Amino acid sequence: METGTLTPEYRHEPVMLAEVLEQLDLSEGSIACDCTLGGAGHSVKLAGAVGTSGLLIGIDQDDMALDAARKRLAVEAPGTPCKLLKGNFGDLDELLCSAQVPGVDGFLFDLGVSSPQLDIPGRGFSYHEDAPLDMRMDPGNNTLNAAEVVNTYNEADLARILRVYGEEKFASQIARQIVRRRADAPLVTTGDLVEAVKAGIPAAARRHGGHPARKSFQAIRIEVNHELDVLERGLEAAVRWTNPGGRICVISYHSLEDRIVKHIFQEHAQGCTCPPDIPVCVCGHVPALRILTRKPLVARADEVARNPRARSAKIRVAMRL
Ligand SMILES: C[S@@+](CC[C@H](N)C(=O)[O-])C[C@H]1O[C@@H](n2cnc3c(N)ncnc32)[C@H](O)[C@@H]1O
Ligand SMILES: [Zn+2]
Repeated sequence: METGTLTPEYRHEPVMLAEVLEQLDLSEGSIACDCTLGGAGHSVKLAGAVGTSGLLIGIDQDDMALDAARKRLAVEAPGTPCKLLKGNFGDLDELLCSAQVPGVDGFLFDLGVSSPQLDIPGRGFSYHEDAPLDMRMDPGNNTLNAAEVVNTYNEADLARILRVYGEEKFASQIARQIVRRRADAPLVTTGDLVEAVKAGIPAAARRHGGHPARKSFQAIRIEVNHELDVLERGLEAAVRWTNPGGRICVISYHSLEDRIVKHIFQEHAQGCTCPPDIPVCVCGHVPALRILTRKPLVARADEVARNPRARSAKIRVAMRL
């Protein structure tokens, strides 16, 4: 595991690092923007690639991640100019404008939560520990938390969130259990939620497919952090900010995210949409992107064996025209 100077609380092995570096194709003097800085596992290498005449922009909405990244970059990439920005990549336009960035040669999005966020019980992301139901990636700014979702949303909305964001087969049964239990007392801890989820899943189905609460926790986390909306906004903005020849590289970890990335890339890669029988183009659509990964890249078997997070990773890359 590559931990560099990270504190024991902030260890996260970067996923598909070699593939990311190859695909971004940065060179000395490039401007790189890591929209999900985390502990800078990818960014230390991006900083190395852009060198002392380039610029690394790192964005994260989590103060703990920014602190860990700042320390690591100072030690491992001391010569590279860095601008570390606290914020949500859904607000990429505002963040890059305020940092007076002229344009970007390589964007990286490594979606979701980091291992340390999952592992610190107080953050409430983990179904392995009993902790307050929180799940906010940005506890300072984002007011909605997991407790509010499970205790105030109506049963139909809960079932929809569990089904759509968690792809959970037993969404209605779990939603019913949550609503039934909270009528007695609000669900306060991750343990309360795990119990409600388990009660909604038939015993036979609970025995396979990993932890029974995995999908429900994913679903509620996506709702709390509006993850799919911000991904759309962030990617649309990245397309506008990428310099010609520059690249956008996205690592996603579940099918909903991957579908959004695929569709946004496809939309921007499309040229003229006029019917074929029209002699001259009247729509004026010009492609902004060329898709470089017809099929998403996945991690090699040896990486998956070493780093379980890599198992579900999919990388899509596009180049700005
Ligand atoms: C998977 S981790 C990134 C790990 C990093 N690539 C590394 O190797 O160290 C994702 C990080 O992105 C942050 N994040 C997730 N969604 C975000 C968003 N919409 N805006 C800003 N940061 C976000 C999380 O706080 C987390 O630190
Ligand atoms: Zn046309």
